[in-house]
Amino acid sequence: MMGNTRLITALMMAVLLLHFVVSFSTKTTDINTDQSTLLALKAHVVSDPRNFLTTNWSVDTSICNWVGVTCGSRHQRVKALDLFNMSLSGTIPLDIGNLSFRTWLDIGYNNFQGLLPVQLTNLHRLNFISMSDNNFYGEISLWIGYFPKLQYLSMSNNSFTGPIPSDMCDRLPTLKELYFSDNKLSGKIPIGLFKCKVIQNIFLAFNNLEGILPEEIGNLKMLRTLDLRGNQIQGIIPQQISNLTAVRVLYLSHNFLTGII
Ligand SMILES: *[C@@H]1O[C@H](CO)[C@@H](O)[C@H](O)[C@H]1NC(C)=O
Ligand SMILES: *[C@@H]1O[C@H](CO)[C@@H](O)[C@H](O)[C@H]1NC(C)=O
Ligand SMILES: *[C@@H]1O[C@H](CO)[C@@H](O)[C@H](O)[C@H]1NC(C)=O
Ligand SMILES: *[C@@H]1O[C@H](CO)[C@@H](O)[C@H](O)[C@H]1NC(C)=O
Ligand SMILES: *[C@@H]1O[C@H](CO)[C@@H](O)[C@H](O)[C@H]1NC(C)=O
Repeated sequence: MMGNTRLITALMMAVLLLHFVVSFSTKTTDINTDQSTLLALKAHVVSDPRNFLTTNWSVDTSICNWVGVTCGSRHQRVKALDLFNMSLSGTIPLDIGNLSFRTWLDIGYNNFQGLLPVQLTNLHRLNFISMSDNNFYGEISLWIGYFPKLQYLSMSNNSFTGPIPSDMCDRLPTLKELYFSDNKLSGKIPIGLFKCKVIQNIFLAFNNLEGILPEEIGNLKMLRTLDLRGNQIQGIIPQQISNLTAVRVLYLSHNFLTGII
């Protein structure tokens, strides 16, 4: 009897110890992965004239204290990365895909350039992406649509090319804000775009979009802003545009549209 109790106690201790060792090591592995990922990003920054990262992103302090980095309270993993307007130049490394816990990514208003790595699509928890006002290029369809929780997407003022994927809204059902102005997007406005049921802001100005403005535009009951300026959209403005009762701002100028609203 005594022996059994002792054995059971010893077993329980062993299980507890094992649990502790395993959870401790997973935790440090995860935070180490995030640290090496951020260091890889830092190594790809070729110019940091305002010294945001140079000294601050130091291995002597926890990454959770680094400027622009926010960690989740429960997991101590990087949750948000906000490098907006830091005058950084460089490229985005493939390793970015290892920051798997991230929900917020803002690298807008810098001088990042090049192709976005396809590994970015690993970050399926993202609900906010801003890469606006950089010098990225490449087909937008290559990596858009892998973020099922995305609410905010801004890619304005880069050199992205290609058509707007017609299944975009099937893949991004929660999208509320879409900023694609000032790029080199081409092709027609896909009817699929009007399946984004909760979308409020659509900015597609100053691209090379062509074709007509489909009458399905009238489906967007929550739409507040539509900016299509400076494209080659033609034909008659569909009557359904008057179904957009939530609209506050409607920019259609510098196209080949006719008709009345
Ligand atoms: C990111 O993950 C890949 C694949 O697991 C690995 O090869 C690479 O070394 C990792 N990068 C960093 C910076 O940890
Ligand atoms: C890095 O920047 C953050 C936020 O500005 C600041 O709280 C922290 O003390 C800085 N760390 C170092 C080592 O400079
Ligand atoms: C970027 O930062 C500079 C310097 O702090 C500031 O003057 C400027 O207004 C900022 N720009 C934006 C778009 O926030
Ligand atoms: C485009 O982005 C650059 C930074 O890369 C900025 O200097 C410029 O003012 C932006 N242009 C517009 C029209 O917003
Ligand atoms: C949308 O507008 C059209 C034309 O003005 C109208 O016939 C139709 O009933 C409207 N649909 C809805 C759902 O409001």
